[in-house]
Amino acid sequence: MIRKLWPHARKYSPYILMGVLCSAAEAVFELLIPLVMSDIVDIGIANGDLNFILKKGLLMVVMAMVSLCFGVGAAALSSIAGQGFGANLRQAEYARIQTFAFSNIEKFSTASLVTRLTSDVNTMQLTLMMGMRLLVRAPVMLVSALILSVRISLQLSNVFLVALPLLLVMVVAILTRVGPMFRSLQEKTDALNLVVQENLTGIRVVKSFVREEHEEQKFSRRNLDLKTTSEKAFGTVVINMPIMMLIIYGTMIAVMWFGGKMVFAGTLETGKLMTYFTYITQIMMSLMMVSMMFMMMTRSVACARRIVEVLEERPAINNAQAKTDRDQKGNAVPAAVKDGSVDFDHVFFKYDKESPEWILRDIDIHIPSGATVGILGGTGSGKTSLVSLIPRLYEATEGTVRVGGRPVSDYTMEHLREEVSVVLQKNTLFSGTIRENLLWGNPNATEEQLWDACRAACADEFLERMPDGLDTDLGQGGVNVSGGQKQRLCIARAILKQPKVLILDDSTSAVDTATDAKIRSAFSNELKHTTKFIIAQRVTSIQEADLILVMDGGAVVAQGNHAQLMETSDIYREVYESQQKGVSIGG
Ligand SMILES: Nc1ncnc2c1ncn2[C@@H]1O[C@H](COP(=O)(O)OP(=O)(O)O)[C@@H](O)[C@H]1O
Ligand SMILES: [Mg+2]
Repeated sequence: MIRKLWPHARKYSPYILMGVLCSAAEAVFELLIPLVMSDIVDIGIANGDLNFILKKGLLMVVMAMVSLCFGVGAAALSSIAGQGFGANLRQAEYARIQTFAFSNIEKFSTASLVTRLTSDVNTMQLTLMMGMRLLVRAPVMLVSALILSVRISLQLSNVFLVALPLLLVMVVAILTRVGPMFRSLQEKTDALNLVVQENLTGIRVVKSFVREEHEEQKFSRRNLDLKTTSEKAFGTVVINMPIMMLIIYGTMIAVMWFGGKMVFAGTLETGKLMTYFTYITQIMMSLMMVSMMFMMMTRSVACARRIVEVLEERPAINNAQAKTDRDQKGNAVPAAVKDGSVDFDHVFFKYDKESPEWILRDIDIHIPSGATVGILGGTGSGKTSLVSLIPRLYEATEGTVRVGGRPVSDYTMEHLREEVSVVLQKNTLFSGTIRENLLWGNPNATEEQLWDACRAACADEFLERMPDGLDTDLGQGGVNVSGGQKQRLCIARAILKQPKVLILDDSTSAVDTATDAKIRSAFSNELKHTTKFIIAQRVTSIQEADLILVMDGGAVVAQGNHAQLMETSDIYREVYESQQKGVSIGG
């Protein structure tokens, strides 16, 4: 685990090294101070030598100051290293997540990824910070104090023979119990974050269905669960404290008892006994630090494992099979999408490899470049799944999907998605101005191109009414435009891209029929050579398409143009007639 995470801390190794040295120096000075004190008592006070006492007293103050400086230095260095390590780790994780395919993200869940990016990294950061101090300080203190106290009195040091094994047994007993608890603690945090995230992103739906109370109950259940688990975990940890203190005080009383007798018998000087006391305290304290350190390590091992899982996750879809072409000069260049032809060769697909049911069954369709394809089908019939195979958002389980005559895996994802544009059912605009959002489609678009695209998508009419036009600021996720306006902006963004294949997944569902027709006619003018896939609920939206696919239960049950389907497909005719009726009654 350490080997996998170390590269992210390597940049800070000078800070870590310096911090560790400072910590060690701090500990050494702290240990030397009691020796000076012992001299003051046994020589200065015993001889009534005020000069000696003052001199040694001054030395003690200086040593304390030096130790303080090292302490401050160690703290500063460790927090620089800790924060830096945390930032690097977050960056690496975030970069990794960007390479994930949808299926990878679904595997972890977005909420868990957020926890792994924030709370887990924070724990690691803290562990490094504390670890740098405690892991050095505690052993240095422990070993040196042990040696020094044995030198003061071997006889008195027998108390350790009882105290140390006792402490050891305690620490091991607690550690074996809390380890699994911490792992489950992080999982409970995931569960809580999932509720929060779902609720906040869907707050409009929650409110309109008056589900606040239900959501609150769901939250409080998970919250309680988290609380109980943390209580159990940290409860076990805090028991550690009083038991340790008990052992420490027990040891002190024993030392006082035996040491006092030795002083009376004249075999030990008073100053030495005082110094011995200080060392005992330091030994015990450092043991306590070590046990706390282990406690924290158990927690961070759980977090580290979760972070490493993200860092090592292999993107389900990658450029491993991307092929290269030769350009005129004979140099190797990444394969480019030649034209907009799309072929499905006996494609089978399911999201979950283990599931027995196919989501798409034996899809075998061949679409020439520039054609317009309409897709009609009930919800859940697999329309969205079908088109998401074209830009390789998911990978066909069996069979091949080809664009421009080559399997989609031949292209790098960047090249493929540059040419295959998708306007999804649930589309997202990002916070920023409308212009910024449109420029995603083509960063070099001129003002004129922007307006052309908006005109084609019928977005110009409402843009002109907006006070700042293209520079209108969209709220988070585009909240201050209506659903239909959002759809039109997304279409404009896709048009700007001038892709070879354009997929519209129910993307005109929120605009009226007249606008829908205008957008479609703009498509045939602006995007003549683009292959267009239009998924729609209304037959009128796809009526003029070159090819219409009727989908049911994951299969294409009928295909042809409008006239052909009216003759051959009962489903199509029924849908058409029922919608015509609606129009004539409504109109
Ligand atoms: N990300 C996903 N993971 C698992 N199953 C999914 C996922 N998306 C869709 N499905 C399932 O695939 C089937 C087809 O869905 P979809 O292609 O979205 O249908 P449509 O777009 O025609 O409404 C549905 O049964 C749905 O439950
Ligand atoms: Mg759909």
